Amino acid sequence: MKNLISHKYTITGKNRSDQKGHKPMVIWFSGLSGSGKSSIASGLEKMLHSKGFHTFCLDGDNIRLGLNKDLGFSQEERSENIRRIAEVAKLFNEAGILVLAAFITPLEKDRKTIRQIVGKQNLIEIFIDTPLEECEKRDVKGLYRKVREGKIKEFSGISSPFEIPKNPDLSIKTQNISVKEAVNEVVSFLGSIIDINE
Ligand code: ADX
Repeated sequence: MKNLISHKYTITGKNRSDQKGHKPMVIWFSGLSGSGKSSIASGLEKMLHSKGFHTFCLDGDNIRLGLNKDLGFSQEERSENIRRIAEVAKLFNEAGILVLAAFITPLEKDRKTIRQIVGKQNLIEIFIDTPLEECEKRDVKGLYRKVREGKIKEFSGISSPFEIPKNPDLSIKTQNISVKEAVNEVVSFLGSIIDINE
């Protein structure tokens, strides 16, 4: 970039995370619309919050109602959506906050962008593996019905691609388990990475 010089502040990300007493990370949930990403992120946040972690949830619908309200659902716009959110998540990390991000994140190339921006050492990738049929059966937001009625175009998994994540850190099949059980699966996995009993 021309004529832009990054300013180094005296207080660093390490200072901020030391003050909070835990490592700031990004836990990124991917999966189809209605797969349970936001519900699981919400349950996980409640648990982490009660243990004294400083957390924040970023999710597709909320971000698209504000910061990214100029973006639609073409592949280019989805990539820009994910790029901006990864940058926001990185800023939150520098502020010492543990971020839970829930976005469809349909393309492998965008997941790569997240790794590049956030850094692999700060990132946990979780695939919420709920089959399309199950998401459509649940249809919590009534969107699948609208898709079938032809009222929504470029819908992930139907008329827009969803590439199954190749090497997620954790994959959760939600079809036969409750949100609480899914949260417990994440918690037992996280136990090996962050000290949840602090
Ligand atoms: S992403 O593909 O760019 O990662 P994101 O997670 O931000 O998507 O937004 C997905 C949310 O937008 C869905 O949960 C759904 O509520 C809503 N939505 C509206 N139109 C679409 C569409 N065409 N495809 C997918 N989700 C849509």
